[in-house]
Amino acid sequence: MSQRKHWEGVYSSKQADALGWYKPQLETSFAWIEALGLDEDAPIIDVGGGASTLVDDLLEAGHRALTVLDLSTEALAVVRARLGEKGAGVEWLTGDVTAIDLPKHHFALWHDRAAFHFLTEVAQQQAYQNQLLKALQPGGHLIIGTFAPQAPPRCSGLPVQRYTHEELSRVLGGDFELQRHHNELHVTPGGVEQMYLYCHFRRKEQAIAGGR
Ligand SMILES: C[S@@+](CC[C@H](N)C(=O)[O-])C[C@H]1O[C@@H](n2cnc3c(N)ncnc32)[C@H](O)[C@@H]1O
Repeated sequence: MSQRKHWEGVYSSKQADALGWYKPQLETSFAWIEALGLDEDAPIIDVGGGASTLVDDLLEAGHRALTVLDLSTEALAVVRARLGEKGAGVEWLTGDVTAIDLPKHHFALWHDRAAFHFLTEVAQQQAYQNQLLKALQPGGHLIIGTFAPQAPPRCSGLPVQRYTHEELSRVLGGDFELQRHHNELHVTPGGVEQMYLYCHFRRKEQAIAGGR
């Protein structure tokens, strides 16, 4: 089954609050984003945003340049229906983060909770990194949550790559400087324990590999 079909099936067969990764609010992500003190019109993208309420909280906090990207139109439809008119100014992108056309050096912040870890092949991870380097402003921020080594090897029935902060830093490469990291236990609605790693990286102002 294609990845896209998998995710469309997930979101059309279960309520958002029954999904394994569901949290009523992404408190850590939101608190870390707010701590950056970004302007309200600083462009922010939530990659693999799914049906999460992070976009609701960012809108409520006054952010006005929000993009949510996901493989699943079903997931985005859930959020759009929930937000109604409040979501009118959000850019909704359906597509694969490793391939979709993203604007150059546009985003001040790239957020990803539990999407990158599904990219288990080196070529996919490199494609993600290329997209990140294309779309993130020099000096921009990356806040990313993945499964940590203590978490199960699968999520949503798919294999995942689990990371320590050292491994994630290595995979992302020398353009990114780790600012903070934190392990956090998530318990799924079904009672399964999943240890997450959250990292905040800052992209260096000067690209190391020739101006991407
Ligand atoms: C485990 S869910 C996490 C959703 C949300 N970030 C949260 O924390 O509630 C992973 C999400 O990533 C999306 N996804 C998976 N692979 C993707 C890809 N290659 N490009 C874009 N989105 C992807 C899925 O559709 C799904 O919504």
